[in-house]
Amino acid sequence: MLGELKMPTSEIRSIILAAGKGTRMKSEMPKVLHSIMGKSLLERVVNSVIKVEDISHNYVIVGHRADLVSELVEKKYPAKNVETVLQEPQLGTGDAVFKCWDKLKDFKGSVLVLCGDTPLLRTETLEKFINSHRASGAVLTVMTAIMANPLNYGRIIRDDNDAIMKIVEEKDATPSQKAVKEINAGIYCFDWQAISPAFKEITPDNVQGEFYLTDIIDWSVRKGFKTNAYVLEDNQEVFGINSQKQLSRAAIILKNRKLEELMNDGVTIVDPMMTWISPETEIGSQSMIYPNCYIEGENFLGENNTIGPNTFIKGNVETADNVKIVASVVSDTIIAENVKIGPFAHLRDGVEIKENVRVGNFVEVKKSVIEDNSKAAHLSYIGDAHLGKDVNIGAGTITANYNALTKEKCKTIICDNAKIGSNSVLVAPVRIEKGANVGALSVITNDVPENSLAVTRSPMKIFQDWVTKKLNKDN
Ligand code: UD1
Ligand code: MG
Repeated sequence: MLGELKMPTSEIRSIILAAGKGTRMKSEMPKVLHSIMGKSLLERVVNSVIKVEDISHNYVIVGHRADLVSELVEKKYPAKNVETVLQEPQLGTGDAVFKCWDKLKDFKGSVLVLCGDTPLLRTETLEKFINSHRASGAVLTVMTAIMANPLNYGRIIRDDNDAIMKIVEEKDATPSQKAVKEINAGIYCFDWQAISPAFKEITPDNVQGEFYLTDIIDWSVRKGFKTNAYVLEDNQEVFGINSQKQLSRAAIILKNRKLEELMNDGVTIVDPMMTWISPETEIGSQSMIYPNCYIEGENFLGENNTIGPNTFIKGNVETADNVKIVASVVSDTIIAENVKIGPFAHLRDGVEIKENVRVGNFVEVKKSVIEDNSKAAHLSYIGDAHLGKDVNIGAGTITANYNALTKEKCKTIICDNAKIGSNSVLVAPVRIEKGANVGALSVITNDVPENSLAVTRSPMKIFQDWVTKKLNKDN
């Protein structure tokens, strides 16, 4: 039999289909760029694929808004063997794979094809799938799953001996075919040299007038190639996103998976329904996550942290142990031990907070370092600043870091032990030396020397009995 002549070699390349518009999303943005907790659907798929050891190279098929999708691929995978291939116009999933024809002309291994819209797929599942494909000696294996509600998926049609014959799309299916609960997961592994001629033979002879990738099953069976269906256990993994409703469902599944993992590792999630944590976030044991936390992107939170209630962590946040963050917004920040943030603090854009620091209510910090034991407890803006150790920032202090005329951002340096009185404006660039004090309500435009006091407010005057005199006069 032909099938036995074409044993696949061990090299695998992947083809990830991401050229479709995703009409059912009703969105200007290409479907695969919609994101779940800080990562696009496409990235979630690519990340699962590139972790499969045997895969040496990846092609991402781009088409609708190819500029945007290619930009993401170039930015996120600069050195990871991920290459984009243009499909223009988009004539269907079969045509999309065909676009790799030239690239794979001399390729002797297997190809793994999958869709960019299945973000719940795990690396382990792909590995099991590939292993099964190899062990069975099949020329073509397609992943299938049993769905209670198979609506919109391609249906797996088997013969009397239960062998797979073909896949029929929902729109082309007869009522009895529609009743089939076994669906096409949209993931295929096949020997390229054996199967690739199919892409020259399939026709758009169907209700949608598209070149269906699914037609390679029927083609392979008719050629007498060993063609297998690999039935997936956890059908959630191949949940394909085609609409906003499905996007939100996938996001909930993904975050619940993460919450379960964290709870198994000793993190307390007070209310899992009201908590979102991205799969890329790590949290140390003994930590408490209160309700209404939304933690997206990549974060490394230490042990015994208390986060929330009501906290938004946007990514690139690193905390040591014993950190408390209450009702705050935090991104791109490194926080040392025993730090307290909030309520209502906003830490953003390159902030570093050292041990025992307190950043309190209505304090915004941007591109700044705050050294050990310093405090900014209320109503302040600290931008482009360096605060030394044991500094106290009085309520309402502002670092005026932006020169609106030159459009420059300027630095404020506050050295160890300096104390800034309430409602002061430090007009940058400016330097407050060690141990210096700034009187409340001062506008500091020049550097303040060590251990000195700088005050700019007008002297206080007392008008003795002013009120009494005023009242008597009016009477
Ligand atoms: C496809 C399968 C269906 C399967 C389902 C699994 C076909 C014909 N149907 O249907 O059997 O059950 O996936 O989720 O393959 N794409 C391109 N170029 C195109 C068209 C699509 O790259 O010309 C990409 C899309 O961006 C998407 C993927 O291919 O990532 C699948 O396309 P989609 O339109 O979502 O196919 P389904 O209708 O879901
Ligand atoms: Mg789909």
